[in-house]
Formats: sequence, C-alpha cells, structure tokens
Amino acid sequence: MAAGTLSIASIPGDGTGPEVTAEAMKVLSAVAKLEGFSYDVETLDWGGDRFLRTGEIIPEGGLDLLRGKHAIFLGAIGHPGVAPGILEKGLLLELRFKLDQYVNLRPVKLLPGVETPLAGRGPKDIDFVVVRENTEDLYCGVGGHLKKGTADEVAVQQAVYTRKGCERCIRWAFEYTRKRNSPKKTLTLVAKTNVLTFGHDLWWRTFQEVAREYPDVKTDYNHVDACCMWMVKNPEAYDVIVTTNMFGDIITDLGGIIQGGMGVAAGGNLNPDVASDGRRGVSMFEPMGGSAPKYTGQDVINPIAAINAMAMLLEHSGQPAAAARIDRAVAHVTGTKMKGQAAGKMGHGTKAVGDLVVASL
Ligand code: IPM
Ligand code: MN
Repeated sequence: MAAGTLSIASIPGDGTGPEVTAEAMKVLSAVAKLEGFSYDVETLDWGGDRFLRTGEIIPEGGLDLLRGKHAIFLGAIGHPGVAPGILEKGLLLELRFKLDQYVNLRPVKLLPGVETPLAGRGPKDIDFVVVRENTEDLYCGVGGHLKKGTADEVAVQQAVYTRKGCERCIRWAFEYTRKRNSPKKTLTLVAKTNVLTFGHDLWWRTFQEVAREYPDVKTDYNHVDACCMWMVKNPEAYDVIVTTNMFGDIITDLGGIIQGGMGVAAGGNLNPDVASDGRRGVSMFEPMGGSAPKYTGQDVINPIAAINAMAMLLEHSGQPAAAARIDRAVAHVTGTKMKGQAAGKMGHGTKAVGDLVVASL
C-alpha cells in the first residue's frame, strides 16, 4: 500500500452481495479518478460458500489483515445453505466486536424520486440519523439454557451495558450532532427508562452528564415505543437519535422503510478511535438489504444502497469531496432516472444503475 493510498478490504459475501459490491467498486474507481486519490482493494472470499467448503468463517490471521486496512466494505452475508445466525454471529457481529466498531451509523434520508410509504412526505421531511451503540446490550451473547429441551426449560439472555460502552457512543453522537449542525441541532436519546430501570438508567444518567459538555446541542428523550410512532407520524422532528444496540436494530429497519426500503439504506460500523501510536480504528460499511439470494445473478438487485455505503466509507476515510460527489450523483439518478427502488422494478438492471451513477458523477 503506497503512502496516501486508501487501503480497502472488500468482502462481497453471499447472494447478491457480489453484484452490488461490483457496482460500488465501479463508482469508487470513477470517483477516485475525478477526485485524484489512489486506493487499493483486497477482495476476500469470506461468507457462506467458503464456510460450506472449509468450515471456516474468518480464516486464521483474517482479523490482523483487516487491522492493516483503512476501511472494510461488506456486500452482504446470509446463505440459504447455512443456518441463520452462524454467519451473522461468526462474521458480521464478530467483526463489529473484535474491531470494536462501537458506533452503528444509520442515516435515514429520503432521496429525490424515492417513494416512501408515509403519505404526503418528501425528502425535506425525512432526513435524520440514528447512532446505534454496536457492541453491547442483548448482542453480547451472555446467557444460557437450563434443562434444555425439557418441559422445565429456562432460557436467559442478558443485556449488558457498561458506563464506558454507553458513554463513548453518546459522546460520539453529541459530537456528530454538533458537526451536522442542522437547524434543529437536537440529539434524542431513545431507550425504555420506565421499564429497563437498571441498564437504561445508566444510559439516562450518562446522557445527562455528557450533555452538559455540549450546551449548544438541544437534547430530547423518547421511549422506544413512542419513537416508532413519531418516526411514522412526525419524522421531520428528528435530527440525530442515539440509542442502544437492540432498539437501534429495530428502529433502523423502520427508518430503512420510510427512506424507501432496503434497496437504498446503508450503514457504517465505526471505530472512530485513534490509538496512542496513531493507529486508527478500522470501520466497516455495508448496504443493509441482506443477501437476497433469490435474486442472485439476475441483474435485478438495487445497487444504490451499496453505492451509498461506499459514499459513507469515503466520507469517513478522509475523502469527503468524493463522498459528496457520489451523494449528488445518486440523488440525480434516483430523482430523474429510476422508476422504483425495489429489485426488478428500477426500470434498469443492476449494472445499468451503477453506470448511471458513474455517468452522473
Ligand atoms: C443490522 C442487521 C444485523 C443486526 C443482523 C444481520 C445480525 O440486522 O445490521 O441491522 O442485528 O445488527
Ligand atoms: Mn437490523
């Protein structure tokens, strides 16, 4: 990797993951020429097929390989031949945890020309960001079975919250809200303090304490059930939401659908830390649509989410101008060239949509 070169690991993954990754890479290649930066991509064959062939999900030395990169692009995981949970835990969650990607950043932005199921709403109404904690909560895998398989079976699944874990995420969310600097400039904590009186009490107190350091940022609080209601009824009220891992998972699917569906929704798994020796955390960017295996190889899957994920990767890897250029091109393509965002309903094939974005850069 040459000095100044952006070094990317690409994990195209399963199903339609490789097809959408190819379009994101096509856009990367074009924007790098236009913006004059250099990059290299190492493509890794991790995913369902490799697991079925070798029994391995992340090969020996794989994490160290990733630690040597600036960023990771993940196409999709999920294979019809592999039981649910194996690849999710073994690859996606493993990378989030081991690389300590403690912020899951999920923009909820309705692009021009994209249909939302919310009646009478347009791009100016739906433009907020969810900052989801990404390493704790019910995702830790703490728990167990007692008397498994008997009539007396007990299952325990524990939510783990730490002061350090919630504070670093909350602090990042305040910084982000300040930088985003929208007219609302409001960070809303979403939790369930009326029921989760231990874990979410920790979140609540931490949120109040950190808020004192950001007097320029307004704060708000919603219980998660009410948040689901407001996201549908008054999405324009939100600027930035910070929330726990499990609730964040649920409300970001709601966010995904109000922004036009999984064909457009992208996310980042960020490790924003810089170690004392100057090494930066490695972040990972992904379209949220999943592997959609039934559409594999048909040139019908929507690559816009993957292209949006590439824009996020560049935004967070020192190439904000390239990211902005992709954002403008994508908005032009959704706004003037595409019939819809669902697979097979775009009015173009997968590759043609990628070409349209490249032509609009
Ligand atoms: C997401 C996904 C994952 C999650 C799954 C695939 C494990 O739904 O990134 O939102 O639950 O975090
Ligand atoms: Mn999810």
